[in-house]
Amino acid sequence: MTKDKQRYSNAFTATLSGITDLFRKQKNVVSLSDKERLDGKNILITGASSGLGFEAAVQLAKRGAHIWMACRSGIPEKGEQVKKRSGSNHVEMMHVDLSDLDSIVALVNKLKAASVKLDILVDNAGMVPNKSRKTKQGLEEMFVVNYLSKYCLTRLLLDHNLFNNPDNNIPRIIYVVSESHRNPGAFDWDNFGAYKEYSMGKTVEYYGYYKLLLATFANELSRKINSPDQVNYSVFALCPGPVNSNIAREAPAIFKPLLKAVFKIFFRSPEVAVQPVIYFAASPEVKERR
Ligand SMILES: NC(=O)c1ccc[n+]([C@@H]2O[C@H](COP(=O)([O-])OP(=O)(O)OC[C@H]3O[C@@H](n4cnc5c(N)ncnc54)[C@H](OP(=O)(O)O)[C@@H]3O)[C@@H](O)[C@H]2O)c1
Repeated sequence: MTKDKQRYSNAFTATLSGITDLFRKQKNVVSLSDKERLDGKNILITGASSGLGFEAAVQLAKRGAHIWMACRSGIPEKGEQVKKRSGSNHVEMMHVDLSDLDSIVALVNKLKAASVKLDILVDNAGMVPNKSRKTKQGLEEMFVVNYLSKYCLTRLLLDHNLFNNPDNNIPRIIYVVSESHRNPGAFDWDNFGAYKEYSMGKTVEYYGYYKLLLATFANELSRKINSPDQVNYSVFALCPGPVNSNIAREAPAIFKPLLKAVFKIFFRSPEVAVQPVIYFAASPEVKERR
């Protein structure tokens, strides 16, 4: 077992790793000055009803962007909260269940009908289930939400030409991954996408595997849609570090009070943890980065 594999092999070691990571010397992401505006930019954020996605909606709306919150729940109250906290009315909510491929198609059709051209996609939604569950299409839910939905959404947005891509604009695509993508030893291509049963003990291991798939996809997407001498889309995959969010909502009830306390004391608030997302969305320094 490699060192990284041990660090993210189960919920306990992953939580401990999150805490120790906070104390490691890390190069801080530059926090952006308020002068970096996104006035009029269309930004689609998945999983914007909670945690990091919700905070991204607030902070990007404050910078003048038109925010499209793609959410499974919290419609319309979370959108109203974003308007109130950001002081912007340019906030819309759209329903999507990312575990259902039909729902992703419906979301893209709604964006198309609204003639939206996206400048930025923040594909942030993610989950840590307490056991495997079958989706409407018979796939494994965490595989779909944490990886396949991102592939499908991006692919559909590109196929339907829903990114704003005139000659002088480089759309940005931002995926939220996790350090736990370092956990898996290898790809399991033979069983790619095959439904497998698991319980809580294996959840963190598969979570890391699906995050590795997502990070790899982001890398490959960037290679495919850009050419060596021209950047058409800037594609980023980032880990926000440990966040005091609702990500552990399915943890066993007996551990919840302890986890809640650990998250509150040691993990970053969404307001702080979201800074890398804001940086990659708004910084002029990464304009032509891929
Ligand atoms: N928290 C951490 O320590 C940490 C560390 C590294 C990476 N991350 C990543 O950060 C991202 C944001 O997570 P978070 O920490 O902010 O957790 P969170 O508070 O639980 O937020 C997750 C968001 O994803 C949405 N979502 C889950 N399943 C969905 C589905 N089937 N359809 C549509 N939306 C769905 C949730 O919607 P509902 O509210 O409707 O459930 C929620 O808005 C995730 O990708 C996570 O893997 C988190």
